[in-house]
Amino acid sequence: MSDPAQQTITPRHPDFTFDDNLPLNWHPAGPAVTQFYNALSLSFPEGERFFVDAVKHYRNQITDPQLLKDVRGFAGQEAIHSNEHVSFNKWLDSKGLKTKPIERAVRMGPAVTFRWLPHKYQLALTCALEHFTALFAEQILSNPEALGDAPQVLKDIWTWHALEESEHKAVAFDVYATLFPGWRGYIARSVTMAIMTVDFTFATLLGQTYLMYQAGDLWNGKAWRDGFKYQMGTPGIWRKVMGGIPEYFKPSFHPNDRSTDELTTKWRAWYAQTLQAN
Ligand SMILES: [Fe+2]
Ligand SMILES: [Fe+2]
Repeated sequence: MSDPAQQTITPRHPDFTFDDNLPLNWHPAGPAVTQFYNALSLSFPEGERFFVDAVKHYRNQITDPQLLKDVRGFAGQEAIHSNEHVSFNKWLDSKGLKTKPIERAVRMGPAVTFRWLPHKYQLALTCALEHFTALFAEQILSNPEALGDAPQVLKDIWTWHALEESEHKAVAFDVYATLFPGWRGYIARSVTMAIMTVDFTFATLLGQTYLMYQAGDLWNGKAWRDGFKYQMGTPGIWRKVMGGIPEYFKPSFHPNDRSTDELTTKWRAWYAQTLQAN
């Protein structure tokens, strides 16, 4: 179990530069895995803005000073994630991938459709997707094969983002649990997770497929096979993320049930010695 006392939420300020010399197919597991991560990155700026707004909406109803502090840390971290992924996404654009259609499609989700939902469900949706990101983050931080020997700046951005996702993994959930305790809150968050599991899987696969088409790899059978092995075989990133979804349906679930303190301690030290020191 993660210890809340260890979960200081620190917005860090890296400044990544993605230059022209970086290869378009940056992930060592091949084009399908590269485009999977790229599709995620394209969803982050709008998606994370939505998460922050969903949590901030309830700020005035929170009285616990520690939770208020955590909300500020969460909002600060997500805002910087959005900015850095905008730079990453501009680099994708400069490499010839048409990113605008995906960004427009993403805007139809978080920025338009989801905002019509009652605020309770906007927050439940945020909790669901924050659980997904926390599970991904755990894989990136614990599994050296998740990023393999990708170029350093690309390993850095995904590792830094994963570290901060692990640090703030409980914030949206704690706000939700404070405001919507009991069975009604449980049912709303469970139904939302069931829907978002399908939505997130479908949307990510669609984004990845579109980028494979853009990169000329749509019919590259080897790339898809390598991608399938990466996600479902070894290291099995998607399989392991999905393995962490059923626990969300337990009435007693809390994001800190999964202990990630050792990982956050390790990668905080890494950040301090590398990116912060530069
Ligand atoms: Fe983030
Ligand atoms: Fe997050």
